[in-house]
Amino acid sequence: MAQPFPVPRRCPFEPPPEYAAMREQAPLVRAALPGGEAWLVTRHAEAQQVLSGAGISTSPATPGHPSRAMRPEPPTPEEIAVLAEFSVGHFIDLDPPEHTRFRKLLIPEFTVRRVRELRPGIQDIADRLIDDMLAKGDEAELVADFGLPLPSLVICRLLGVPYEDHEFFQSRTRRMLSVSADDGARFTAMAEIRSYLDALVTAAEKGPEDDLLGRVIGSGRLTHAEIVGVIFLLLVAGHETTANMLPLSVLTLLRHPAQLDALRADPSGWPMAVEELLRYHSIVDWAAFDRVAAEDLEIGGQLVRRGEGILVLGASANRDERAFERPDEFDVRRGARNHVAFGYGVHQCLGQNLARAELEIALRVLFERLPGLRVTAPDEELPAKYDGPIFGLTALPVAW
Ligand code: HEM
Repeated sequence: MAQPFPVPRRCPFEPPPEYAAMREQAPLVRAALPGGEAWLVTRHAEAQQVLSGAGISTSPATPGHPSRAMRPEPPTPEEIAVLAEFSVGHFIDLDPPEHTRFRKLLIPEFTVRRVRELRPGIQDIADRLIDDMLAKGDEAELVADFGLPLPSLVICRLLGVPYEDHEFFQSRTRRMLSVSADDGARFTAMAEIRSYLDALVTAAEKGPEDDLLGRVIGSGRLTHAEIVGVIFLLLVAGHETTANMLPLSVLTLLRHPAQLDALRADPSGWPMAVEELLRYHSIVDWAAFDRVAAEDLEIGGQLVRRGEGILVLGASANRDERAFERPDEFDVRRGARNHVAFGYGVHQCLGQNLARAELEIALRVLFERLPGLRVTAPDEELPAKYDGPIFGLTALPVAW
């Protein structure tokens, strides 16, 4: 029988318990979605095979793509019109060779070398946010005071989006990604962010600066609408993910004080710790991993026919005992960089070097400057996004 899907998380530290049973059962499991069926990929090797992109399409326009089956009803003509406008330049949803055109243009902005140049700015933002927290007293709410503003400030600075407008685009992003909002509200939020960015790009086109947006405009390789789509994708992808990882990482490290002490004693362990936090939490899970077979394929011994939808369970692949020893154990010294928290293959996270730098700097600075940091609410009272596509906490009360 097909597994009803999606299944929600019930704990901040574990994927849905159904994943382990499905992984045991088979590498590919049939899922019953609200409006149809799809394959769920449960194991690491098969996850990499699908995400590598060979014989696979990620475009919602390809017949059989699971984005249609995730909804009980087909989209209305108005929604189809918003989606069509939204898809221009939204290259996470495009297949090569169209996708390659965008990716090639943006890769130089996110190389290890480029991100190294951004590190002092990130450190400065982290320090200033902690100064503000200290100025207010000995308590804070870590999502609002640190987790969300840090990546938001970084990406705004990088893109040339005024941070003063953060309440506007953060509230719209939340609505867009909220499962509890109705479809109408979600589509309105998307259209609002797009028209805000349209005006921003129009202004920048009149006098491009030497920033990412200016360079993309100056390249002359993208249309106005494509640039708006690219900035939209970078803005949303650039803060929603890291913002969710930061508070979860703080909570997890505080629950493993011996490992945290070791990191304080030897900060060279931070990069490896960040990889483990990414693997352990797998906050994106399947949300970005919706695919469709573009030809008949064999995956994990299973024939998948052209036009059949596929969802890769990243949170299951990252707990696959075939790829990781003691996968449910949190171990900052594990050194497993083969996790799929940033995906794999053609669409692997473009901002991964930036995300790593943000997490590493933010966590190191926070634990160095607030040595007495502790969470002031019990785990079971922490509000979490159990119904959202990207997992995270909505608040983390702390004191020091
Ligand atoms: C902890 C933080 C982050 C996580 C866990 C994460 C995760 C992911 C994942 C899983 C994908 C692959 C989607 C797929 O296969 O379809 C992806 C793609 C992407 N990410 Fe990230 N991301 C993070 C931070 C960032 C940041 C800071 C940026 C900054 C600009 C960013 C920009 C992008 C873009 C543009 C893509 C699309 C790449 C493409 O389709 O070629 N991400 N991310």
